[in-house]
Amino acid sequence: MSEKILLQTEFKDLKLFRRGKVRDVYDLGDKLLIVSTDRISCFDVVLPNGIPHKGKVLTRLSLFWFELLKDILPNHFLTVDVDKYPESARKYKSDLQGRSMLVLKSKPLPVECIVRGYLSGSGWKEYRLNRSVCGINLPAGMVESDKLPEVIFTPSTKAEVGHDINVSKDHIDKEIGKDTSDALAKYSIAIYKKARDYALSKGIIIADTKFEFGIHDGKITLIDEVLTPDSSRFWPKDDYAPGRAQASFDKQFVRDYLETLDWDKTPPAPDLPKEIIDKTSEKYLEAYRIITGEEFSRCL
Ligand SMILES: Nc1ncnc2c1ncn2[C@@H]1O[C@H](COP(=O)(O)OP(=O)(O)OP(=O)(O)O)[C@@H](O)[C@H]1O
Ligand SMILES: [Mg+2]
Repeated sequence: MSEKILLQTEFKDLKLFRRGKVRDVYDLGDKLLIVSTDRISCFDVVLPNGIPHKGKVLTRLSLFWFELLKDILPNHFLTVDVDKYPESARKYKSDLQGRSMLVLKSKPLPVECIVRGYLSGSGWKEYRLNRSVCGINLPAGMVESDKLPEVIFTPSTKAEVGHDINVSKDHIDKEIGKDTSDALAKYSIAIYKKARDYALSKGIIIADTKFEFGIHDGKITLIDEVLTPDSSRFWPKDDYAPGRAQASFDKQFVRDYLETLDWDKTPPAPDLPKEIIDKTSEKYLEAYRIITGEEFSRCL
């Protein structure tokens, strides 16, 4: 049976909180309803096609990590059981089932908490310029994708438009106060390390990832999505070789395909061929399978 692809939700009786590149978030008062659609973005542009199963895989991966990491700090997760959602949301069950999560609304802290275990992406770019990443000096002679001598916390601020801006820890200290900033750095590194060790034992390198935190009931709480391929760089361990860029676990087929076109990476993005869509869908299912050790049941 082919899976229904959901590109966008329009829940007329609910208040839209935010429509991101991939997720539609609704405001239910003291709670939020996070709906992961099947949208995919590449080079920061949302593509016209959906990827079958993607929204459900992302939802269940976040759920898996919330459970694994809950001993380290509280998180916003309430339930994925649509029957337990507030009544106003339950009528959208057919769209919500498997791809949505009811969470506690918190006061988000305005920091993208990026943690890096490997030198890649904007970190690698910056290192080549001045041998540091977000003000943290690193040894000379490192090559692209090298494992860092120590896990580093490299926050960025959330830009309303365009790319987020990398900032130093000092900058964050001033923005949100040193105690909170220290706690975010400590938590981010602790949860990254636990997830990294777990994933590595299953054959996936988590090169870097981004966490978001909020304040709920006066406590620092893990919010947003966690450790999905959309918020992290996952690399297959077997193909890992420093000194070059690594294949991205999930989006490599899409990137490679788009690079063959004469597209300037600004909207609108071109259509993807079915073969690329199917292969990409398989990669998301594979990520789920490897990380959780379970087959993803497609009819959930
Ligand atoms: N428990 C929560 N309480 C309050 N806000 C939350 C909570 N969980 C997530 N959020 C916020 O909800 C928003 C979700 O938006 P989303 O990530 O889908 O889009 P975006 O960040 O605007 O863009 P992108 O698609 O590039 O990530 C984020 O701003 C996030 O900080
Ligand atoms: Mg986001």
